[in-house]
Amino acid sequence: MRYLDSHAHILSEEFRDDFDAVLQRAEEAGVERMVIITTQPDEARRAMALAAADPRRFQAAYGIHPEDIRTVTEDSLKEMAEIAADPRLSFVGEIGLDYHWEKEMAAAQKELFIRQIEIARQVGKPVMVHSRDAHQDTFDILKEHHVPGVLHCFSGSAELAREYVKLGYYIALGGAVTFKNARHAKEVCAAIDPAYLLSETDCPYMSPEPVRGTRNEPANIPHIVRVMAQVRQVSEEAMAEQVWQNGQRFLGVTE
Ligand code: NI
Repeated sequence: MRYLDSHAHILSEEFRDDFDAVLQRAEEAGVERMVIITTQPDEARRAMALAAADPRRFQAAYGIHPEDIRTVTEDSLKEMAEIAADPRLSFVGEIGLDYHWEKEMAAAQKELFIRQIEIARQVGKPVMVHSRDAHQDTFDILKEHHVPGVLHCFSGSAELAREYVKLGYYIALGGAVTFKNARHAKEVCAAIDPAYLLSETDCPYMSPEPVRGTRNEPANIPHIVRVMAQVRQVSEEAMAEQVWQNGQRFLGVTE
């Protein structure tokens, strides 16, 4: 079986000491493709270098995260736009809205989100969307300022997921789908057209069962796809291949 991790922060500090071993375990687990999500310009440049060196294995994404709303400047947006235009970068993100951490900055977050969506449109790249406790505002913005993309670590309702799929958005599920109390993620997994499901770790965060609570890494993707298969009542092989093919379509790659 072959797997995709559509959202991996593998260049974050947590992987600095054993980066090669993390990649080795991913390979052994069959995780053949990873989208490296970055939140700082220097990190984005490292991700683009990796993507350029091994484009079958890595793709790079960069965007200004909503949690960084208090430090964003016109200069940082200008630099973001330059990186977005770099041909070695595949995705703009993660971008979006986070009302869990920065609710009082909602207006500024919306403006930053829309400006980065417009940059993505100009450079013709899909967006990787982060939405936390901001389901309706995120949906309203993506409906009005529509660009292709994926809702990462989706935590909304099955009904909302269906609305996104109608607009052509992919839905990425991670560790939460394996949690006993995560009703929403399982409902979403069961409810939407399976052609729009992607798998992700969001590592180093959100480890799935049975390794919940430890540092997450791309090698944990099979735990997530296994639960997706159970929820959809298909074989693990069929689920893995479906998600892989979705990833190929979404990532714009052919074999
Ligand atoms: Ni993330």
